[in-house]
Amino acid sequence: MTPDFIHTPAVQKLLDRAAGSDGEGGDARLKHIMRDLLEALMALIVKHDISESEVWQAVSFLQKGAGEFGLIMPGIGLEHFLDLYMDAKDAEAGRDGGTPRTIEGPLYVENAPLVENGASLTSDPDDTGMLYMSGSISGPDGEPVPNAVLHVWHANSKGFYSHFDPTGEQTPFNNRRRLKLGADGRYSFQSKMPNGYSVPPGGATDQLMQALGRHGNRPAHVHFFVEAPGYRTLTTQINFGDDPFAADDFAFGTREGLLPVPNRQGDSAYIAFDFVLQRAQSASDEGFSARARAAA
Ligand code: DHB
Ligand code: FE
Repeated sequence: MTPDFIHTPAVQKLLDRAAGSDGEGGDARLKHIMRDLLEALMALIVKHDISESEVWQAVSFLQKGAGEFGLIMPGIGLEHFLDLYMDAKDAEAGRDGGTPRTIEGPLYVENAPLVENGASLTSDPDDTGMLYMSGSISGPDGEPVPNAVLHVWHANSKGFYSHFDPTGEQTPFNNRRRLKLGADGRYSFQSKMPNGYSVPPGGATDQLMQALGRHGNRPAHVHFFVEAPGYRTLTTQINFGDDPFAADDFAFGTREGLLPVPNRQGDSAYIAFDFVLQRAQSASDEGFSARARAAA
């Protein structure tokens, strides 16, 4: 079958009707996107001669894996693609500089305890060393950013995040805090050392990675939102530069400039890392993306 099959009158008419393109009402933007999406899927079916059985197997995979869509998005590179796309649009608009953004990932939990600078993030026992992190938050001219809130979240020594821990062993906000910072833009916190993360064994993401001949591992890392009045909210992470998966992160969250090598002292480690924010150009720059997030 040639790709032209997509352009036959029967298929084009089907697309117009399916996407509501031939009628009034509905959301015009959605109708355009839906029509293109359906046409792209149909073109894919023709290009790879995907059988009826294969289509329904794919539907079943998506149905059973729905709970892991948030994990699959980074795994298939789409979350990183969004970063690349936002970077490219920023560059086009002359908005560059500052700490690189990188993926939020699916494991943030809203409303973590708001604590003073210097606090510990860890509430639960964990048989490992300490992580000490500190640095500055500054703006484009090197000015200290006052009154920032630094959201921090990371896994425990088993690579599990509180709220999403299959062992059920962690209290809700373990290794999650919001640090309320002062006028000098300095931050520091201590925490129990995180370990690398792996996708849930046997889950949809794991199945997909195996079918692609890939793995589902991330290096040890720490997530951040940096929020401050007058500045653009930054979504980023640091990944441990000396972790074996630092150069092979299944979620594509590792980026140049975000791979500090911890200063290790036995089981413990020190990381110095400075954040540089862009100024906000609109109120929405100071907010968060509209993504659905877990709450505890
Ligand atoms: C995934 C897990 C993470 O901890 C992360 O930061 C990004 C992605 C995931 O399971 O896909
Ligand atoms: Fe993570």
